[in-house]
Formats: sequence, C-alpha cells, structure tokens
Amino acid sequence: MTPPPIRISSSAQPLAAIDADWLVVGVSSDGPPDPAVAELDRQLGGQIARLREAGDVTGKHPELVSLLSVRGISARRMLLVGLGPVARYSRSVFDAAGAAALRSITGRKFSRVAVAIPPLPAPADSAAAVLGLSVGAVQGCYGPGLRKSEPARHAPDEIALVGDPAPAESLVNRVRVEGNAVALARELVNLPPCDLYPETFAARALESVDRIHCEVWDEARLTAERMGAILGVARGAARPPRLLIMRYSNAGTSPVLALVGKGVTFDSGGLSLKTNEQMADMKGDMAGAAAVLAAIRAAAELELSVNLLGIMPLVENMPGSRALKLGDVLTARNGKTIEVLNTDAEGRLILADALAYAAEQKPGHIVDLATLTGSCMVALGTEIAGLMTNDDPWGDRVRAAITRAGERAWPLPMDADFEELLKSQVADWKNVPPSKYGGAIAAGKFLQQFVGGVPWVHLDIAGPAWAEHEGPARDSGGTGAFVRSLIELAATQSAE
Ligand code: BES
Ligand code: MN
Ligand code: ZN
Repeated sequence: MTPPPIRISSSAQPLAAIDADWLVVGVSSDGPPDPAVAELDRQLGGQIARLREAGDVTGKHPELVSLLSVRGISARRMLLVGLGPVARYSRSVFDAAGAAALRSITGRKFSRVAVAIPPLPAPADSAAAVLGLSVGAVQGCYGPGLRKSEPARHAPDEIALVGDPAPAESLVNRVRVEGNAVALARELVNLPPCDLYPETFAARALESVDRIHCEVWDEARLTAERMGAILGVARGAARPPRLLIMRYSNAGTSPVLALVGKGVTFDSGGLSLKTNEQMADMKGDMAGAAAVLAAIRAAAELELSVNLLGIMPLVENMPGSRALKLGDVLTARNGKTIEVLNTDAEGRLILADALAYAAEQKPGHIVDLATLTGSCMVALGTEIAGLMTNDDPWGDRVRAAITRAGERAWPLPMDADFEELLKSQVADWKNVPPSKYGGAIAAGKFLQQFVGGVPWVHLDIAGPAWAEHEGPARDSGGTGAFVRSLIELAATQSAE
C-alpha cells in the first residue's frame, strides 16, 4: 500500500552533465545569476538568458517553466522554478518551490529527477535550501488519492540533489528521513476513517522501527490506569480506544522531551453533533498524533541524541447509544473531575489524561499538538498555529525551531481569567466555558490544568494541519504540518 521510498542521492557534477529525465533548476527574480546556472546556460547556448529577456522566465515564486527536448546537456527536460527575490529566500520559499516543481511533473512516471541546489550567499543557511527544496520535492510526489483505482501521482525512483559542493551525506540522510516522515503524517491524515481508527493507527506505530519502544494500551489497561477521560470520549463509538506510547531514548540521563498528539480518528462531535459541512474533514482530527508518530520515527532513524516520549490518545468521537451525555462527569488520570457540557470539545478531554500521564513521567519539557479549536482558525487563519505555554523561555525555544523549519505559530495569551470561566458548579472543571469567544485560549487554559507545572507548549494546529483546497505548491488534505518543526526541535536538542 505504501509505495517504496524515493531514493535520494547527491552529486557535485556540473548541471550540464547530469543524466536525468528532468533537471529542476531554481531561478531568482533578481540577484546575480548563480554560477552553476550560468555555466549550464552556456551549454544551452544562452537559452535561459533569452527566455529571461523575452519575459518568459521571471523567477517569480513559484513560477514553473518547462523546457522539453533541450540540447547541449545530458538531462532530457528542464524545469525552471521561480524562487523570488534573493533577500526573501527561506526554508518555506524553497519548500514551496520544490513541491510545486515535483507536483507538476509527477503525473507521469519518471525514473530520475535531479534538483539543483543553489549556493546561498552567506550568512544564509545552506541547509535551509537543501532541506526546503528536497523535503518539498518529496511532498510534491505524493497526493491525497490513496484510494484511486488509477494512481494520479507517480513518484520517481530517484531524486538526485546536485550542488557544489555536493550536499553532505548527513543532510541527505535527513532529507530521506524527513521527506518520508512528512509524507507518513500526510498519509495517516488522508487515509479514510474506515481504514484508520485507533487500533490500526496504533498498528502503524509497531511497524519495523528498531530503537523505539512501543506500548499500546487497550480498554482493560486504560481502565486499570484510570484514564477516565479517554474512556469517556470513546464510549459512543463501536471502535475501541487505544493509548499509544512510544519511547526513544538515546541521550543517557538528560531530560525527556514529551510529545503529546491528539488522535481523534474521526470527530463527529458526539451528541453535540457537527453539521455535515463541519464533519466532512474530521478524519483529519488525528493530525497531532500523526505528527508525533512521524517525528519520533524520524528521530530514531536519524539516531538523534535525545530522549523522546510520545503519547497519543486514540479515539473515535461518535454519538452511539452509550455516548457521553451533557452533564456527565469524568475523572481524569490526575484525579480531577470534568463536567462535559459539549461532547464536541473532546480533544481537550483525551489530552487531559494524556498530559497528566506525560507529566507523571517527569519530563523536562512537554509539547502537545492538537487540531483543537475552530476558534484558533478564526483568530489566526488557516496557515498559522496558535502557541500557548506556561513557560515563556520554552515557548520561545519551540517557536524558534518552528521558524527554522519554515513553519508558523503565533503566541496567544494565557491570562488567568480564562481559567475562572472553566470552573464547574458540579465538578472541578467543565470542558467548555460559557462564552464562545476566546475559544482557543480557553482550550489551552483547560489543558494547562493537567500538565502539573512541567514547562509545556500547546500548539493548536486546527488550521495548518489540513488544506481545504489544493494550490500550486501543495495538495488538498493532510499537510504534514509540524513534523518538520518537531524534527528540528529534536535535532536542536541533540546538538546541545
Ligand atoms: N476537532 C475540532 C476542532 C477543529 C475544527 C479542527 C475545525 C479542525 C477544523 C474540535 O474537536 C472541536 O470540535 N472543537 C470545538 C470546540 C467547541 C465545542 C468549544 C470547536 O472548535 O467548535
Ligand atoms: Mn470536536
Ligand atoms: Zn476534535
């Protein structure tokens, strides 16, 4: 079912000598021509320069111009991809360029695609160009059509990264691992909920990764472990819940980084039922758990020197006859009671148990990722995650890693008055405040009650995890959001 991974190689050959079905070359909209491209153009008899003069190639981001039956070079076809102004080069610009380029040519099967890595003027980060273009290129090879009878996209057998000097093997290996990790998270989000549910999600974690210790808790274990909130949400569903715990330890006694991901494999809303329109994309409500699974796998494959603990509560939120009722009270793992006044605020319930369990393990830090609230999308749009924290220095470190990875998050305030609104007459907490305003913050404030004072960051990824429409640089459906950021965060800790 999962296609074989694309072979990623690197080379320092002159661009004109690269043997490939396609040679993808980035061009800026300003700045001096990159020497490797200037040399290539000499072999092409000045074709690129003429196209520029005629205005057929502008370098606008992410313009695509294909040259078929090129002469004078070893590659059969060339694809010029616009990178925009040099001053605005960044990991995300490169990522979109790589993705747009490969998306445009993978409607057919090719064996070998070469991607030219432009040299970056110091102090720009050349790793950003390699990781951006190539992880983006790998995403451009996969679409959401997992169940089409005829595949719509055909990944090439090989992507060759060409630069002078050739990208270092350690970086090429990171491209391999990170490209697959982002694609895995996208695949898990895109799979239909008839195939991906708590048990099958957990089974994917058990697939052949050495160095990771996996545990899957079933209902009996969840009951024995007092995971009352997870069990409560799962009550309305025929599919039983699971708690997936993954441990990767490769840094001796240094503090553990706990990653917690919301894994609602389908969110109908429960008895607080969603409308058809609201429900249509809710197979993607496990994107947080998918990002955690993919990132921990990547960290293990890269053999990073970090200690990671992944915790993924997996449930379906359904309105079956045993479903949670409004007014029901659940007891979470930490002994606190929660009055359920909206069964569609289920993510914070399962995360309450998961975060309390994470905090008990005494990690140095916690990051949770959750497609938690529509309110966060009202506040920040579809492309920017909300970042909430109980520890500003940790929040700053996480946000710096997100920025380096070419992704976006913006801090939301965590003022104490939001907490007052969550106090219940009947129980310790209620799962929703009386007002719909500030819903992302209220949800964050609810989660904070379960982290036991451990430095923690909550990322509300409801917007960025899912693309409603396709664009030139990405497909609709799962985006693999924050896998890059989590790998960057782990790699940074590994280097410290
Ligand atoms: N999974 C949804 C949040 C969501 C909405 C994710 C849209 C992606 C796109 C979450 O479980 C939910 O239903 N949240 C409610 C909370 C409300 C009941 C307080 C929401 O946002 O409406
Ligand atoms: Mn919901
Ligand atoms: Zn949900």
